Amino acid sequence: MPAFVVVGRNVSTDHMFSLNDLAGSTGRLDVLLRCVNSAFMLSNDIRRDVDLYLLLLGEPDPPRALLFRGAELKYLNPDERSTAALVKNALMKAALSGWVRSTPGIYTAKKDLEGVLAELSGRRLVYLKEEGELLPPGALRQDDVFILGGKEDLTAEHERTVSGWPDSLKISLGPRSLHADHCITLALNALERSS
Ligand SMILES: C[S@@+](CC[C@H](N)C(=O)[O-])C[C@H]1O[C@@H](n2cnc3c(N)ncnc32)[C@H](O)[C@@H]1O
Repeated sequence: MPAFVVVGRNVSTDHMFSLNDLAGSTGRLDVLLRCVNSAFMLSNDIRRDVDLYLLLLGEPDPPRALLFRGAELKYLNPDERSTAALVKNALMKAALSGWVRSTPGIYTAKKDLEGVLAELSGRRLVYLKEEGELLPPGALRQDDVFILGGKEDLTAEHERTVSGWPDSLKISLGPRSLHADHCITLALNALERSS
């Protein structure tokens, strides 16, 4: 089952955001909300065979990780605003080192990138990056872990963490710089076509 890790470098960890200002004071939480949509939303259905980790690294209390488990998700709708309300609930939970369930299928923890990746050891890491190797047909595996930036790219430190991973690839989905949510759609489509 594939997993996606999206790094929100400046996304606020404060639950006191306005549902009317998702693209402003939140540090572009809207970008991550669209990633939730791309990872799980089918027409009239939800993908149950995907996990999505969102890393929120903005003030006031970074790092904060959110885990969306497709197999358990409930109350997820296609619109960004209702997903933002689920994120708000999760951010209201205590930030502990282990996962705390917020609503069905949504968990939160005080984890940074290394903390999240530690849970995915033994799996191949596919770093999605414009300058990577152009995706060869059939190259992806169903249990790959995809990592990508949100509004901004990964930091140099994150890139060092990724390149130090025992089994990793840097893959480009095409020559143009794409939105993170579109990258997830393309990766899932490539996986489906190769299965
Ligand atoms: C909106 S982009 C980040 C900022 C972008 N690099 C820029 O210059 O504005 C979000 C992320 O999507 C991924 N991405 C974007 N275009 C891609 C492509 N053509 N192939 C693979 N990954 C891509 C990268 O991980 C990137 O950090």
